[in-house]
Order: sequence, then C-alpha cells, then structure tokens
Amino acid sequence: MHVLGIETSCDETAAAIVSETGDDSRPWTLASNVVASQATIHREWGGVVPELASRQHVRDICGVVEAAVRDAGLVLDDLGAVAVTQGPGLVGSLLVGVAFAKSLALARGLPVIPVHHLAGHIESLTLAHGELPLPAVVLVVSGGHTSLYLVTERGAYRRIGRTRDDAAGEAYDKVAKLLGLPYPGGPEIDRVARLGDDRAIDFPTTRLTHPDRNAPVDTGAGLLPPDVARRIDFSFSGLKTSVMRYVSQVSTGGASLPEAQVADVCASFQRVVVSALLDRTFEAARRLDARSVGIAGGVSANSRLREDAETRGRQHGLPVFVPPLSLSTDNAAMIAAAGLRRLHLKGAGSLDFNAEASLTLD
Ligand code: KG4
Ligand code: ZN
Repeated sequence: MHVLGIETSCDETAAAIVSETGDDSRPWTLASNVVASQATIHREWGGVVPELASRQHVRDICGVVEAAVRDAGLVLDDLGAVAVTQGPGLVGSLLVGVAFAKSLALARGLPVIPVHHLAGHIESLTLAHGELPLPAVVLVVSGGHTSLYLVTERGAYRRIGRTRDDAAGEAYDKVAKLLGLPYPGGPEIDRVARLGDDRAIDFPTTRLTHPDRNAPVDTGAGLLPPDVARRIDFSFSGLKTSVMRYVSQVSTGGASLPEAQVADVCASFQRVVVSALLDRTFEAARRLDARSVGIAGGVSANSRLREDAETRGRQHGLPVFVPPLSLSTDNAAMIAAAGLRRLHLKGAGSLDFNAEASLTLD
C-alpha cells in the first residue's frame, strides 16, 4: 500500500508518500518527501506568526501534494490511504492539512488516518532504520516538545518524562534571538557553536528534585521510582534566563557581543542542553532495561547531540538511532509512516475527527 502523509502543524507545508515493503523488520520505504518551508516568511518577525503560517499553508498545500505524488512516480488512484497530523500544533495550520486530507479522502473513497505529531517523530526512526530493538527509550526533542517515551511494543508509546517549562528547541530559538542570530535559531547555534569554547561560560544545569504539580496522573505511572521520574523531567527556562543575564552583563551599553564571544555563549549553552538531554535519556534507558535508544524531532538534527549520543551509546553498549536530517525536522514522511502503524493497529478513523492544538500521546 502507498500512503500519502500530510503535515501542516507549524510552519512547514509537507506531503510525502511512504510505501509498504512486505518486510516485517523494515516495513516501510520512502517514495517521496516534499517540504515547503515558510522560514523566510517568519524570519522577518523573529518567530512563527500563526496567521501568516495558516495562510501560506493554504497557498502551498495543493502544489506540495501534487509534487509528492509525482515524485513518487504515482497517480492519485495508486494511493491506499491518507494520513494527516491531527495535533498538537497551531490550530489554524493544522486545520489546513486536516481539511485537505478529509476532502481528498472523501473524494477518492480512501481511509483517512489522524496522526499524533510526536508519534510521527517516533516512527521516523523505524522509517529510516527498520524496527528498533524493543523496549526502546525515545527522546522526542523539537521546538514544541521535549519528552521521553518508552516504546514497549510496536506502536505503543508510554511517556516517562517531559519538560516542565520550555522545549529544548524553544530554548535554542530564544537564545539565538537574544544573540541576534536569525530564526530558526537551532541550526544557527549549532553552526556558530563549532567556533566557540564550550567551557568558556559555566551555565547551570537544572536538576529537578520536586514533584511535578501539574503532572498528568498517568505519566510514567509505576514505571520508575518517583525520585527517578522527577530527575528525568527536563527544564530549560532557568538556563535561558541565565544566558539572558550573562549577555546583558557583558554587553556594554546594549551593543551586540563580538563574534568570538557569541560563539562561546553558543558552545557553552549547547553543551549544557545536550548533556541534560542525554543524561536523562540514558538514565531512563538504564533503569528500564532498554535495548535501544532513539532520538527524534527537529533538535535531533543537532550535530553535537548526534555525536555525543553515539559516544554515550558506545559507553552504555546500546545502539542509538537518529533519523537522517531530512526526517529530523518536520516532514510528512514520518506522518505517513505513523499512519500506516496506526492503520494496522487500530484501523482508519472516521471523518469526524478535528484538528487539536493540544493532544497528548501516552
Ligand atoms: O520538529 P520540528 O521541526 O518542529 C516542531 O515540532 O517543533 O523542530 C523544530 C525545532 C526548532 O526549535 C529548531 O530551532 C530546532 O528544531 N532545530 C535545531 C537544529 N535544527 C532544527 N536545534 C538545534 N540544532 C539544530 N541543528
Ligand atoms: Zn515536529
């Protein structure tokens, strides 16, 4: 079966086709993957402007879907299902994809599968590498989310940790903004950090010792002892504030910092973020006897995170899986893959689902 995936949760209009292989250990193959990025539109404003994003999705969606079908060497009649991101994300943006997917499915008599965006990021790993050795601990780290999942069986995701405040990608984007680097800040910090000294500034690492008062009741329930569950939650807002304080202390008269100092801030900030992410991921993997570790989502494109994850994997004797760059940041191939997973486990959805700005996966 060929599945068309559609993803419009934020500022990328994406469509892709994923085909089944019939091979149980490597179930899916990528037939096409088209992404129309709106980064240049939002850069002018220093971040995503929701209303501009939804309008641009409307302009781009038809052409992007046509290109995905054409690149795969297929026609609409070859499709077996349509999978679409239901949420979480910007509701106006999500609505464009959901309305398009439902209309196409209705017009063509195809099943439509609503997909959770984070299930998409998790399944990008299987799309790229085949089925992971389970149980797997998967870190999903993006602009909107930083969460740890335990994947016990194919398609069964249990959240075991999450950020209490900012997502890691959000911290990257905010720190970049205050350093005068363009949007999106993650790739910029990644690039500039290579020129800096990662020990130049001693930014603090946040360790959480208090229970999460806002925790959903069932988060990681029973999987980890309470003190460990607390320790593997993330927090990045304190780090962001300390970078802000440092920058305002050292910049004389509000002038921008010299390039070398910007590079040192980027490298030092990145060292703290990457070790916070990996410390928790590998601690969870050790506690839960995981047989593999996965890292997915936009921040998994980060070069230092990829290198350090490899090293830690070797130290722990665990295979580490990261998607290729084209499947790290938002794309629709991961949505088609997660759609296939869901179709086989639960069947297709009915047409009455709606776009959901907030939606949990566990
Ligand atoms: O998964 P994604 O494309 O969208 C969301 O679901 O949020 O992730 C986007 C995030 C942005 O915060 C962006 O700055 C970050 O991923 N990002 C990176 C890198 N490439 C993208 N962060 C650090 N290093 C990178 N190379
Ligand atoms: Zn994402």
